[in-house]
Amino acid sequence: MKIGIPKEILSQEYRVSVNPETAKMLLQSSHELFIQSGAGIDSGFSDEEYSALGCIIVETASEVFDRSELIVKVKEPSFDEVEMLSNKAIFTYLHLSSSKELTQKLLDCNVTGLAYETVVINNETPMLKPMSEIAGRLSLLDSIELLKKSKGGKGKLIAGTSLVEPANVLIIGGGIVGLNAMQMSLGLGASTTLLDVNNDLLADIKAKYPAVNVAESSRQVIENILPMVDVVVGAVLTPGGKPPIVISRDMLSLMEPKTILSDVSIDQGGCFETSKATTHGDPTYEVDNIIHYCVRNIPSAVPFTATNALNEATKPFILKFANSGLNGLFEDEKLLMALNTYEGKITNEEVAIAHSLDYSDPKSL
Ligand SMILES: NC(=O)c1ccc[n+]([C@@H]2O[C@H](COP(=O)([O-])OP(=O)(O)OC[C@H]3O[C@@H](n4cnc5c(N)ncnc54)[C@H](O)[C@@H]3O)[C@@H](O)[C@H]2O)c1
Repeated sequence: MKIGIPKEILSQEYRVSVNPETAKMLLQSSHELFIQSGAGIDSGFSDEEYSALGCIIVETASEVFDRSELIVKVKEPSFDEVEMLSNKAIFTYLHLSSSKELTQKLLDCNVTGLAYETVVINNETPMLKPMSEIAGRLSLLDSIELLKKSKGGKGKLIAGTSLVEPANVLIIGGGIVGLNAMQMSLGLGASTTLLDVNNDLLADIKAKYPAVNVAESSRQVIENILPMVDVVVGAVLTPGGKPPIVISRDMLSLMEPKTILSDVSIDQGGCFETSKATTHGDPTYEVDNIIHYCVRNIPSAVPFTATNALNEATKPFILKFANSGLNGLFEDEKLLMALNTYEGKITNEEVAIAHSLDYSDPKSL
């Protein structure tokens, strides 16, 4: 298969979808790789490194798209990229539930859209997990900075001191992001509360981490906790679907001024009503005196770690699709979960529900 790797175009997106190790594995299986010049540089991989392996380096994104049957990316494609994808396939984070416009564009351009995030195996999302680990850890580390007075925060040290109480951290959603944020928060000595709708999960977490306070998530519970918190991490997910809104606009008045709301779920549309996507260059804004941090590509801040972690998770799926093509895709139940759009139809039920559009069972196609 002819596989293209364009340079990411989202502001301050430093990851690359295929690192030299994955490239080597694909080349060994006789695939051709077209890499846009400079695509790997921010993750520490030069054009020379790729070309020494046998990849073809091309100057422009349009040449990458023109010469490839499959495009492998990190972030969702822009509308211009979708135009270049007409009748081709893409494997990337698509997050289609958060954008009806992008969903419609992929359908109109007859794109075979494969999404990393919709593959679920044993209740885990293996291609989302490595990024969630990084995002969960960084959400807490970034909040430490935002608590500083010099950064516009409350002026609190997250760990407190022997004479002063530590900060209060509330984490909503106890999946991979939430668990990693919680481990950081506990490790830093913050007073930490974790909420989820899954009581079995909460019981397991409490058994392993006795220092954390856990409770079943509900509007009432969140309202009771908000007046005491310094940092809230939003880390909820409904696989493939839009996250639920766990903090509405009217709840902002319950918090002290300069409380930090870190909406990690923003890549799926956000779980706070007042969230809107921000960038690493300008990561925060305020609504009603509450600091919102809503960076939708948090792992990109550490591209070396993030690119290599992403590749470890995605390479078996990319290789499988490259080796077997569409025929193999329809015979492989796990890989088929990645298929979101095909021949102008939506093949992921959650995406169809999110936009009130028709769903086609991929097994029937
Ligand atoms: N911004 C970024 O850079 C970035 C990076 C990685 C992941 N994410 C996002 O972070 C979010 C969490 O990812 P994850 O991998 O931890 O998902 P996960 O599926 O492992 O965990 C989600 C958790 O949310 C819980 N949940 C669902 N509804 C809830 C509610 N109303 N209240 C409380 N908990 C609820 C679920 O029970 C589950 O435990 C996702 O939206 C993901 O896309 C963002």
